[in-house]
Amino acid sequence: MARNGKVSVIGAGFYGSTTALRLAEYDIFETVVLTDVIEGKPEGLALDLNQSRWVEGFETKVVGQTTGPNGEGYEAIAGSEIVVITAGLPRKPGMSRMDLIETNAKIMRAVAENIAIHAPDAVIINVANPLDEMTALAQIVTGFPHKRVIGQAGMLDTARFTHFVAEKLGVPVGSVTTLTLGSHGDTMVPVASACAVDGKPLADLLSADEIEELVVRTRNGGAEVVALLKTGSAYYAPSAAAARMAKAVHEDSGLVMPVCAWVDGEYGLSGAYLGVEAELGREGIRRVVETPLSDAEKALLVEAYEAVKAKQGDVKDL
Ligand code: APR
Repeated sequence: MARNGKVSVIGAGFYGSTTALRLAEYDIFETVVLTDVIEGKPEGLALDLNQSRWVEGFETKVVGQTTGPNGEGYEAIAGSEIVVITAGLPRKPGMSRMDLIETNAKIMRAVAENIAIHAPDAVIINVANPLDEMTALAQIVTGFPHKRVIGQAGMLDTARFTHFVAEKLGVPVGSVTTLTLGSHGDTMVPVASACAVDGKPLADLLSADEIEELVVRTRNGGAEVVALLKTGSAYYAPSAAAARMAKAVHEDSGLVMPVCAWVDGEYGLSGAYLGVEAELGREGIRRVVETPLSDAEKALLVEAYEAVKAKQGDVKDL
């Protein structure tokens, strides 16, 4: 596919800058815009990224832009087909993602208002935490159709689950299939029945206790990294997940990925952002795909839905 179009990344911290790097290195966009409220930070990172182009062999240009408290500088994102929102505080050790809600909601409001003004046709991919709630808030503030506002969590949680299974069995990650649905938090639903290694069900290779251990580690996958880093949260695997989603949208690929999407009757659930599998294309979510689940997994998904729906009901007041 020819190089074309513009993708913008809001927030030039660890998550945003690594996402911009991956998007630029795909060499499929004409422009990657990176913005932040810290004067000079996005410009400096963009210059550095552009200077890596000759070494890495890509032509995509990265544009850095500082934005002001009244939306100054947001003209830079005009015409974006995709906007990835990474602006917001990350967790510190001992914090839950929910502890970030008030601070990150204020940031999200400011960012989403400007996206609605300057990139009204964009597909939004939100990664700011708490994920499900901030994705819901981005949709409320922009007023964009639900299918054009997506959250990134399931790809990351699935990648973590896959890594743990591969490590446990000593096999290449490429031979492992896993899946997580539900929320990006306590009610994450790692779908053991959909897990396989070279087509063999995971349940034939590991005991129920061993699988449960990996499920628990996956659910706490973000916190494990935060506890080790002490000063912030994960960004290599998260940015890989977000960038792949943006690529799928840009290429109108129809790839099915676990993402945070608006459910409207699927699994008998409606009116909330929830981790489900969905087909991605140029319009954002083409359709939510219902994955076959065991009764126990379905019950956990309903539990996750009830938890996120209750919290999302309150985000409009934040
Ligand atoms: N507009 C643009 N950028 C902003 C704004 C804003 N209104 N407010 C804060 N930022 C920027 C900060 O200046 C900082 O550069 O967001 C960036 C956040 O970067 P980091 O602190 O490095 O955090 P990061 O690890 O990138 O995480 C960002 O992703 O995983 C989630 O929980 C995490 O919500 C957090 C987000």
